[in-house]
Amino acid sequence: MKYYFRILLFLSLLAVVGISLSSFVLAQEDTYRIGDTEVFGKLRRPAVAFDHEAHAEALEDQGCGACHHAPDPKTGKLVYVEDEEAACSECHGRKEDKSIPALREAFHGSCTACHREMIKEKKNFKGPTTCGQCHVPGKKPMRQ
Ligand code: HEC
Ligand code: HEC
Ligand code: HEC
Ligand code: HEC
Repeated sequence: MKYYFRILLFLSLLAVVGISLSSFVLAQEDTYRIGDTEVFGKLRRPAVAFDHEAHAEALEDQGCGACHHAPDPKTGKLVYVEDEEAACSECHGRKEDKSIPALREAFHGSCTACHREMIKEKKNFKGPTTCGQCHVPGKKPMRQ
C-alpha cells in the first residue's frame, strides 16, 4: 500500500514539473526572428533572434520607449506613444531618408548600441555585440 502511495506521489510530482515546464515554454513564445526580407530582399546575414518578452521585463525601468518611438507631429522629436508601437520598417527603409536612418542602421543603432552601453555599466552583462552572436546561422525569419 505504502509502495503504491509513493508511486502516486512521484507521478503527481512529475505532473507538476511537467505543467510548470510547459508554462515556461509558453512564456518564451513572444520571440521574434527578425528578417525583413521585404525591405532587405535576400538577407546577407541570418535572421536575428529577439526575445521581446525578456527584453520588456529586463528593461521595465526604462519602459517600452527604450526601443519604440515616433516623431512628434509638432516638434519632430522622437517620443514614445503608448499603444502605437509599430514595426521598425514602417518608418525605416532600405536607404537612409533625410534624417531617418536606414533599417539596418536603425536596428544596429538600437540593439548593439544599447548592449554596448550596458556592458560599460555592468561587466558581466550578457547582451551580444558581435555580428555572429546576433546573426546566428540556421535562424530563419519568423514572427509571432
Ligand atoms: C545586437 C544584435 C546585432 C549585432 C551585434 C549585429 N546585428 Fe546586423 N542586424 C541585427 C538586426 C536585428 C537586423 C535586422 C534583421 C533583418 O531584418 O534581417 C540586422 C540587419 C543586418 C543586415 C541587413 C539584413 C541582411 O541580412 O542583409 C546586415 C547586412 C547586417 N545586419 C550585418 C551585420 C554585421 C556585418 C554585423 C557585425 C559588424 C552585425 N550585423 C551585427 C542585429 C545585429
Ligand atoms: C529592447 C527593445 C524593445 C522593448 C523594450 C520593447 N520592444 Fe516592442 N518591439 C521591439 C522590436 C525590435 C520589435 C519588432 C519590430 C520589427 O519587427 O520591426 C517589437 C515589436 C513590438 C510590437 C509589434 C509591432 C508591429 O506592428 O509589428 C508591439 C505591439 C510592441 N513591440 C509593443 C511593445 C510594448 C507595449 C513594450 C513595453 C511593454 C515593448 N514593445 C518593449 C523592441 C522592443
Ligand atoms: C513612426 C515612425 C518610426 C518607427 C515606427 C520607428 N522609428 Fe526609428 N526613427 C524615426 C525617425 C523619424 C527618426 C529620425 C529622428 C531624427 O530626425 O533625428 C528615427 C531614428 C532612429 C534611430 C536613430 C536615432 C536614435 O534614437 O538613436 C534609431 C536607432 C532608430 N530610429 C531605431 C528604431 C527601431 C529599432 C525601431 C523599431 C523598434 C524604430 N526606430 C521605429 C521614426 C520611426
Ligand atoms: C535598451 C537596451 C536594449 C536594446 C535596445 C536591446 N537589448 Fe538585447 N538585451 C538587453 C538586456 C538588458 C539584456 C539582458 C542581458 C542579461 O541577461 O544580462 C539583453 C539581452 C539580449 C540577448 C541575450 C539574451 C537573450 O535574450 O537571448 C540577445 C540575443 C539580445 N539581447 C538581442 C537583442 C536584439 C536583436 C535587439 C534589437 C532588436 C536588442 N537585443 C535590443 C538590452 C537591450
